[in-house]
Amino acid sequence: MRKITSEELREMWLKFFKDRGHSVIPSASIIPENDPTVLFTTAGMHPLVPYLLGEKHPAGNKLTDVQKCIRTGDIDEVGDSTHLTFFEMLGNWSLGDYFKKEMIAYSYEFLTGEKYLNIDKDKLAVTVFEGDCDCPRDEESASYWIENGLRKEQIFYLNKKHNWWGPAGITGPCGPDTEMFIDTGKEKCSENCSPACDCGKYVEIWNDVFMQYNKQKDGTFIPLTQKNVDTGMGLERTVCMLNGFDSVYDIDLFQKAIKLLENLSGKKYSENIKAFRVICDHMRTAVIILGDKNGVTPSNVDQGYVLRRLIRRAVRFAKNIELPENGLKEIALLFIDIYKDVYSEIFDNKNKIIDELVKEEEKFQKTIQTGLKEFEKVSGFMKEGVFNGKTAFRLYDTFGFPIEMTEELAKEKGLTVDKKGFEEAFQKHQELSKQGAEQKFKGGLADNGEQTTNLHTATHLLNAALKKVLSNDINQKGSNITAERLRFDFNFDRKITEEELKKIEDLVNSVIEEKVDIICMETTVDEAKKLGAVGVFDSKYGEKVKVYKMGDFSMEICGGPHAKNTGELGIFKIVKEQSSSSGVRRIKAILIK
Ligand code: SER
Repeated sequence: MRKITSEELREMWLKFFKDRGHSVIPSASIIPENDPTVLFTTAGMHPLVPYLLGEKHPAGNKLTDVQKCIRTGDIDEVGDSTHLTFFEMLGNWSLGDYFKKEMIAYSYEFLTGEKYLNIDKDKLAVTVFEGDCDCPRDEESASYWIENGLRKEQIFYLNKKHNWWGPAGITGPCGPDTEMFIDTGKEKCSENCSPACDCGKYVEIWNDVFMQYNKQKDGTFIPLTQKNVDTGMGLERTVCMLNGFDSVYDIDLFQKAIKLLENLSGKKYSENIKAFRVICDHMRTAVIILGDKNGVTPSNVDQGYVLRRLIRRAVRFAKNIELPENGLKEIALLFIDIYKDVYSEIFDNKNKIIDELVKEEEKFQKTIQTGLKEFEKVSGFMKEGVFNGKTAFRLYDTFGFPIEMTEELAKEKGLTVDKKGFEEAFQKHQELSKQGAEQKFKGGLADNGEQTTNLHTATHLLNAALKKVLSNDINQKGSNITAERLRFDFNFDRKITEEELKKIEDLVNSVIEEKVDIICMETTVDEAKKLGAVGVFDSKYGEKVKVYKMGDFSMEICGGPHAKNTGELGIFKIVKEQSSSSGVRRIKAILIK
């Protein structure tokens, strides 16, 4: 086995496939641009879905890359020796070009070749699909493994739970796979020990998916006309295995951060393993999310909430090891340095990453101490092991404790949180602040009356004006329209000055005065993007979307309805500008006839 660093593995991978006719493509955004069914890009194939479904990729039909991936289902497990919320996936694809025979030969060569990973072939185990009513047993893949040099005892046939991949969301391309494992040489855990069990004898490092099907909403599988190969190798785990480490945190990507944490805190890693790992993992992921081109900032919804949880959990563990002020910032700077040459956006967004991180940390630092005291006070009197849901809500609402953090604190004391009570308190609060779910209609419209339609059109003008006056990076974070007013949330990190508000108002009113015709066209998402339309690109691939264009001023993907001409709107007036959540501002505006 070749002892290798992560940088060497990235380079070796890309060169191997480049030398075999693949185009090297850059990592896509960590925020899926075309898939509303998941919050983050979870695999290398994810951004390539349209191409796996048959669209032409501009770089050709053989591709390779290193993709930034985030899987946050197990945030609370981070701290053990294997879990990471961010990882890099090495991938290669054949879009209707080569299939099983060639791919298995590539895999065998890369794994065992002297110039490559140089893994002893007897240390490998592979799995193939055992077959079911959707897809036959994959004897073909098994035979190629044998042709290349494996013994049949090294091949395991497993069911769909183990040897089937995808789709990444609910629908999409998927198929049987063949997975490659390193046999660690540990004793078999039982007679039936196989790569299917998690006793630790076998560790998966690579997965070749043979995409032959498109899964439908109703759960059926339709054969794809274009058969693809999609493979993924986890960078961190592979480096860990090749070096014979016990934990992914032993690899080069984390070692510097661990040393720095030891220096800053004066504490030993070996005595504070969980806290060190949580801080390293969460800071690294926060840097990647904040540094992404589709930049997300901490908030109470979606990706912003995940980011908030990561930062706040890191803050809590930093407290445990008495990390001095600026400690987390130092760690973030280190990760920026590590990734700046791999993902150029990290370098470009360096200042933003640090600013947002420091802001979120400061915000939480103000309340965490009091919140923790409150937690101790209440849990000290606890009976029957259930932590009060209302108190959990107060910790959330007043002290900014993500509910998951309260649950974790409770767990450390052997308590559980009354989640139902928490949700009830949450709901009640929402109703009180008149943000109840009943107002959340499709597109944020409460009804389709004439005034709401006009306000909807005004919302588009406002969105465009905000971009022009404040920053082109502004994106819609929420919209809600009633017959009386519009309410628009967007990412922006400071109060908007009176002067700026006036400019925004004037700009919108000038377009109204120009009496611009509103044109609706139907096109594909890709075409809409090419035209420069803004909006949520949440339609399914290939499906047509509506784009509303108001002169040269605004172009948005949107379901409508809208006024026919901006002249119908009346006078646009901003009545309120306030903070909605961290990094998100809210504007309320009306139209006066
Ligand atoms: N999509 C497969 C995986 O995530 C291979 O890239 O493992």
